[in-house]
Amino acid sequence: MKISPSILSANFANLQRDIELVEKNGADYIHVDVMDGHFVPNITFGPNVIQAIRPTTKLPLDTHLMIENPEDYIDAFAEAGADIIGVHVEATAHIHRAIQLIKNKNVRAEVVINPGTPVEAIYHVLPMVDQVLVMTVNPGFGGQSFIEESLNKIQQLAKLKDEKGYHYDIEVDGGIVPETAQRCKEAGANVFVAGSYIFVAEQPKKQIQLLKEAIE
Ligand code: DX5
Ligand code: ZN
Repeated sequence: MKISPSILSANFANLQRDIELVEKNGADYIHVDVMDGHFVPNITFGPNVIQAIRPTTKLPLDTHLMIENPEDYIDAFAEAGADIIGVHVEATAHIHRAIQLIKNKNVRAEVVINPGTPVEAIYHVLPMVDQVLVMTVNPGFGGQSFIEESLNKIQQLAKLKDEKGYHYDIEVDGGIVPETAQRCKEAGANVFVAGSYIFVAEQPKKQIQLLKEAIE
């Protein structure tokens, strides 16, 4: 079970401070939400921000690309220091090629599905990926409510993993608080992204502890 705090809800003027704070208090990954203003209606970080935060932490940078044509930017994010790169199946006509490109850079490869996208859309790349991200909100913003229907998709992915002997982790992202984390865990998820729940609080330590207790 891993916790991946999303710095989308951190203080952008104090990213180093906030990353060190969650690292010290039990985070397993740092989740970095990359948005281009086209695939999602918001704009955040580019590869130069990944490069700037890379030396501030030993934790893997769990990089979630919410950008169109992600295959054009994989080299840049890998060279900037991303340890996991996630690409949305909805963002490219060439999801298989995008995943090959990530693997060629020796980075952990992740495929991501939106709430409206069925598991079948990624069926043929499941043998290749190290992680599957099931979005539990529509991507673009922090602080939204968990979408219940996602639980079925987590179950479906856990079953396929078991039946076929695949090795991927199952990550969930959006509306994660202890109660939703626990339900996702029961469905089969093992990596939990949380943004507003961790960073909006004055004491992220307590929030991380409560999340960990919920998924133990
Ligand atoms: C949404 C992002 C999330 C976001 C989650 O597009 O992918 O990582 O930070 O935020 P919360 O945990 O506040 O729902
Ligand atoms: Zn994310």
